[in-house]
Amino acid sequence: MRIALVTGTSRGLGRALAESLLGDGWTVHGFARGPQALAHPAFRAHAVDVGDEAAVQAAVAAVLETSGRVDLLVNNAGAASMNSLLLTPAKKAEMLMRVNYLGAFHCLQAVGKAMVRQRAGTIVNLTSVAVPLALSGEAAYVASKAAVEALTKVAANELQPHGVRVVAVGLGPVDTDLTRAVGRDQLAALNVRIGRPSGTTLAEAVGFVAEEWGGAPSSTGTVRYLARLG
Ligand SMILES: NC(=O)c1ccc[n+]([C@@H]2O[C@H](COP(=O)([O-])OP(=O)(O)OC[C@H]3O[C@@H](n4cnc5c(N)ncnc54)[C@H](OP(=O)(O)O)[C@@H]3O)[C@@H](O)[C@H]2O)c1
Repeated sequence: MRIALVTGTSRGLGRALAESLLGDGWTVHGFARGPQALAHPAFRAHAVDVGDEAAVQAAVAAVLETSGRVDLLVNNAGAASMNSLLLTPAKKAEMLMRVNYLGAFHCLQAVGKAMVRQRAGTIVNLTSVAVPLALSGEAAYVASKAAVEALTKVAANELQPHGVRVVAVGLGPVDTDLTRAVGRDQLAALNVRIGRPSGTTLAEAVGFVAEEWGGAPSSTGTVRYLARLG
């Protein structure tokens, strides 16, 4: 029985990833703050704020108590906000860093220790094409995801000798709550810019992320984007 821990499973991409894993026979532990509607015999919901280190440690301990191991961690929980840089409230920048970067950091630390003991495991961190594009209006979000990408590379170097892979995957706009506040014209222009004029469906996004555990990738420390950049 393969065991996955996915963060941000109450909706959007995280929920779709959890459903895909469950369909493939995985047991999935899902972290989110709010109620989780996903109902499946192999799904375990945990009420966790990933920005709260103690809460993450306690929840990961509960996962290990129940399932004994974690084969896959997907750091998907995230938040976004569009603001021009000079008008971005510091509190907003702090919140994005706390959820996007520290959330991934806390989960990676807690689960990484178990994976090192197992001498096996895969960690997939979610990032965005907004990082390589240095997208205007997203300074705080881009900074938090750039930190996630840097964390991915260092973690990959440190954990590779212990049999643990760490990678990041970056997406363009996908229709979830995260992008609903952004103007349709803006999203369409961004999709053209990344060579995906028809956009990216939730199923395409799930398929791209799932390549990290469904296929053959043996590399570590990579950051792959579902986009044509440059
Ligand atoms: N959608 C896109 O266009 C797009 C593009 C590029 C990258 N991404 C990345 O993909 C990931 C998923 O995005 P999405 O579009 O699915 O977003 P979403 O629909 O807004 O869902 C975000 C998920 O994260 C959870 N979450 C947020 N803050 C949390 C916290 N402090 N602790 C625990 N869980 C938390 C939410 O659950 P609760 O609110 O219940 O806690 C929810 O389940 C994010 O990392 C995002 O940056 C998305």
